[in-house]
Amino acid sequence: MRTYLVTGGCGFIGSNFIHHMFRTYGDDIRIINVDALTYAGNPENLASVENLPNYTFVKADVCDKDAIRRVFAENDVDVVVHFAAESHVDRSILEPELFVRTNVLGTANMLNCAKEAWSLPDGPDPLGNYKPGKRFLHVSTDEVYGSLPDDPDAFFYETTPYAPHSPYSASKASSDFLVKAYMDTYHFPANITNCSNNYGPYQFPEKLIPLMINNALNGRKLPVYGDGMNVRDWLYVEDHCRAIDLVIHKAPLFETYNVGGHNEKRNIEIVKTIIEVLREELPDTDPRKANVSEDLITYVEDRKGHDRRYAIAPDKIRRDLGWEPETMFREGIRKTITWYFDHMDWMEHITNGAYMKYYEKMYGDRGAAESK
Ligand code: NAD
Ligand code: TYD
Repeated sequence: MRTYLVTGGCGFIGSNFIHHMFRTYGDDIRIINVDALTYAGNPENLASVENLPNYTFVKADVCDKDAIRRVFAENDVDVVVHFAAESHVDRSILEPELFVRTNVLGTANMLNCAKEAWSLPDGPDPLGNYKPGKRFLHVSTDEVYGSLPDDPDAFFYETTPYAPHSPYSASKASSDFLVKAYMDTYHFPANITNCSNNYGPYQFPEKLIPLMINNALNGRKLPVYGDGMNVRDWLYVEDHCRAIDLVIHKAPLFETYNVGGHNEKRNIEIVKTIIEVLREELPDTDPRKANVSEDLITYVEDRKGHDRRYAIAPDKIRRDLGWEPETMFREGIRKTITWYFDHMDWMEHITNGAYMKYYEKMYGDRGAAESK
């Protein structure tokens, strides 16, 4: 039975990944989820698996040497899937040092503890010798590559030079470089994935798609940054989870893969699609339906250093591992909206707490640049 140590498993992608793994491998695997339960970590995301005998939750900070060492000492971990991070660009602009701590120092600590636990004293490899079958997957983002021009032929490849602009992407880029350095210096058994923007169930409503769904349902304004023409490349979260599953089981060690589904959309298109699908899905008898219209769209002051366009070239993961995205955008948005309808209590639990204070801080005095 293989043991997977997942960090940040109570967050958006981590919890989707844990569900994916239990759905796919059932009793044949063990998962240890290490999460510090920051504002973004919600144990409710994993309520349906928390009593499984092959699932263990450890509340710990990835920066905590003793705690992480203990996890490795007490468990024969085969694969680390490292999601834990501060993940929101707007927060990184307010509090950059927190991003350096969690994303850079936390990754350094995870690498050190895994290296220590997996090392064998002697062997033929002068760079480093490890117990067989061990692998560390560092889950990263396409934002490390910076911003693309509005040219439909420009894409991020694995060979694109790093050019991060936000404190978030700079901290993720630093963590990627550490993983690369461990591979080159110690022959440490790792891979990196750089994925585009995800959406789907369990996404914290500070990110564009769940924020717009939640606001529209509550008749609140839909705050579009700048001119709304920035482009993101959207991937349904389950497609990302399948990509990670393939990389940890099939990819050659030391390789990096870009993950994305050629699903480039301007932010304003996303917001309008959400409004359309919400109107299609809400029954006429639902009083919330009257709230949902394009009149809610409000253009607000732009994000500082706002990257214009992201677009992934997923050719390598397609060619080498046969990965293809399965969920097309409109279908994915419909599934996401239906999920939020069915989990309004999940949204309420989040929105009645600390999240609202943050919301006030972010949007409270962000004047409307223009209302359309
Ligand atoms: P998230 O913010 O929803 O979840 C992060 C999780 O990490 C939370 O459960 C939080 O409690 C935990 N965490 C934070 N600091 C921690 C610490 N010091 N110790 C232990 N746990 C800690 O993030 P997400 O959107 O699920 O992203 C997961 C990973 O995927 C991140 O590394 C992110 O950079 C990467 N990624 C995200 C996207 C996206 O669109 N969301 C796209 C590409 C890559
Ligand atoms: P976000 O979901 O924060 O992801 P990222 O910044 O990591 O790409 O934002 C996606 C895009 O949506 C980004 O261009 C910023 C924009 N945006 C808005 O216009 N309004 C909002 O309220 C939010 C949260 C984001």
